[in-house]
Amino acid sequence: MSVTEEAAVGFGRLRRKEDARFIRGQGRFVDDLRLPGMLHGGILRSPVAHARIVSIDVSAALQHPKVHAVITGRELEALGLAWMPTLSADTQAVLATDKVRFQGQEVAFVIADDRYAARDALELIDVEYDVLPAVVNARRALDPDAPVIRDDQEGRTDNHIFDWESGDRAATDAVFARADVVVAQDMLYPRVHPAPMETCGAVADMDAVNGKLTIWCTTQAPHAHRTLYALVARLPEHKIRVISPDIGGGFGNKVGIYPGYVCAVVGSIVTGRPVKWVEDRSENLMSTSFARDYVMHGEIAATRDGTILGVRVDVIADHGAFNSTAQPSKFPAGFFHVFTGSYDLAAAHCAVHGVYSNKAPGGVAYACSFRVTEAVYLVERMVDLLARELDADPAELRLKNLIRPEQFPYQSKTGWVYDSGEYERALRKALEIAGYDELRREQAQKRERGELMGIGLGFFTEAVGAGPRKHMDIVGLGMADAAELRVHPTGKAQLGISCQTQGQGHETTFAQIVSQELGIPSADIEVVHGDTDLTPFGLGTYGSRSTPVSGAAAAVVARNVRDKARLIASAMLEVAPEDLEWEPGRWFVRGDPEQGATIAEIAMATVGSLELPEGVEGTLDSETVYDPPNLTFPFGAYVCVVDVDPGTAVVRVRRFVAVDDCGTRINPMIIEGQVHGGLADGVGMALMELIAFDEDGNCLGGSLMDYLIPTALEVPDWETDFTVTPSPHHPIGAKGVGESATVGSPPTIVNAIVDALKPYDVRHIDMPCTPSRVWEAMEGRAEPP
Ligand code: CDP
Repeated sequence: MSVTEEAAVGFGRLRRKEDARFIRGQGRFVDDLRLPGMLHGGILRSPVAHARIVSIDVSAALQHPKVHAVITGRELEALGLAWMPTLSADTQAVLATDKVRFQGQEVAFVIADDRYAARDALELIDVEYDVLPAVVNARRALDPDAPVIRDDQEGRTDNHIFDWESGDRAATDAVFARADVVVAQDMLYPRVHPAPMETCGAVADMDAVNGKLTIWCTTQAPHAHRTLYALVARLPEHKIRVISPDIGGGFGNKVGIYPGYVCAVVGSIVTGRPVKWVEDRSENLMSTSFARDYVMHGEIAATRDGTILGVRVDVIADHGAFNSTAQPSKFPAGFFHVFTGSYDLAAAHCAVHGVYSNKAPGGVAYACSFRVTEAVYLVERMVDLLARELDADPAELRLKNLIRPEQFPYQSKTGWVYDSGEYERALRKALEIAGYDELRREQAQKRERGELMGIGLGFFTEAVGAGPRKHMDIVGLGMADAAELRVHPTGKAQLGISCQTQGQGHETTFAQIVSQELGIPSADIEVVHGDTDLTPFGLGTYGSRSTPVSGAAAAVVARNVRDKARLIASAMLEVAPEDLEWEPGRWFVRGDPEQGATIAEIAMATVGSLELPEGVEGTLDSETVYDPPNLTFPFGAYVCVVDVDPGTAVVRVRRFVAVDDCGTRINPMIIEGQVHGGLADGVGMALMELIAFDEDGNCLGGSLMDYLIPTALEVPDWETDFTVTPSPHHPIGAKGVGESATVGSPPTIVNAIVDALKPYDVRHIDMPCTPSRVWEAMEGRAEPP
């Protein structure tokens, strides 16, 4: 690290503090943990998607010389732990007792000396299944004769979970009735998986002597996990410590509590030894939380001159076998009702119907804020379909309908209040960087030669930073976050936060926030996170909420320290606090700048013999809880250029321009990294990622041979830029950015592909746009040029 970086104060392109250990291979992940006497757990999983369990015989497994215990649902039943509550007020089997309801469901847990012995012993367990018909199609799950999946719920006769609406149905119908043009389209946002590089896992260690349970766990929300363990397992919360060490990517996959974690805890209690459970890649893809799986019917209404009037959506949401989607309880479809997008509409309405199916549970917000991705995909595809219908330029159509700067704060027709935006500026910038007019000329020439070049546009508005807690909670825990700032006597500081980084660089950016407020170099501020014994309570990191919520808490707590420092400085300098002025790192006497005290001097004086002023206790330390008044609404304008090979239907993403606006930018380098990662995610979802099932419910995407994720070979050199429209209510004006690109890129890429196939009169292709799907779409369509 250069001298400049060590001394760096405030915002800017500071290199990541955490990389000192990551680039040396010194990160410490859950699977790196080796405790004395530690045992290893393995999970027996159902080979079928739907079956009644006739019997489970574990006797042979227990005979295995390296096996210490085998736990089944029966043992858990005795402890009241066979079922656990989900994050969506449903219940989920920890280990199946009555039936298995998806392929890969947890049936038994073996604890052995090592991972290999545990795996060997799993094969010695004999389970007799009475196989039942499976249903993996969300529409079919609603048929009256569909097999009832959740017959554990008394009186249940179907697979319907919930109906939820947002917007004004009557007003929307009226708008549609007077529209010149209505375009409708069915589309699927397919089931995909966050697929973090590190799979999920836990090490549980119950200390029988002092009764303290320590759980090292891949969790994005350590405090919420601790409280839930206390409530579900009826363990005293002060005797539970959840430690979330380095995390190799979360993307929503590490929000929930999985059966494997509970089994590790029970295993440690049963054996009296630490128990580690780490899932393998297939277990991760097949069982721990899918994302999306929204079957959508969208309609858009407009005048002939291209004024968009309204959007109407009907969704069947496939939630798998247990409703364990992670989202604020008031919103069973997450923030899907942000589907009105970035446009000034007269009316909008959506209806969402949740269903059970014989697929893995989950429905996590994979790199998005609770279904924002599905919403943005829907509206951005619909706008492109409208442009097609009107024979309008998709850029012009968007520019005509975007919410204008003077309309902010903007009340959407589904109840959101967008905080700030300069949409046209961002779109014009993206078009200029892309050289849009020139690209259209190039496209026209290529079309004459039979070459398939597509230009896709996408504009998104996200809703990130959940709470406020009066409107948003997860299982009753209000969505606020805390920060605790300690200033040591020598002026070095330690910031404890309740969110948990999974690779986003919080140790750097949160230090930068405090540095900006207090004028202490970032290098002198240590960020502590991911340990419930060392950090204050809060709801954690998902939905790009760290900067909007915890980041705000960090700024506020630093300001509290600054205010306290002023009182102490006034005692030191023997002047009234009002006579002191602040410059970064120091209070000084107005009109006499030589007379002043730095934060370090004030910190030392605070613990020295100075008589502290009234109301100031013995340190500069402070703690705060930030309950956000509103979400923040980052936005962005994207342009994608693709080439489709007319002979093979292979899509190549040639260019991608991303102009993002996340308000005040703390660390532009980290933001660029976040955007690059999200754009790569988008290429994956648009072109290759899919968790598919055959009609018996066998998962066809259970390994990275089948579930394809993008590599450097499939992505272009990203062309990123930005605008800055601060959030008016966030203390430093920052909005979230971690998930913007994952949200904005898939529709942009699909829009580009459909645009490329205009000569074939293709209207729509469902993701992933694999060569075979693109080929099918081209086949039988209009004659190629
Ligand atoms: O919750 P999560 O950390 O995933 O998302 P985020 O709050 O959007 O932040 C992702 C990373 O980008 C963090 O290191 C942030 O501090 C940083 N960031 C930034 O530098 N400036 C912003 N305006 C927003 C985020």
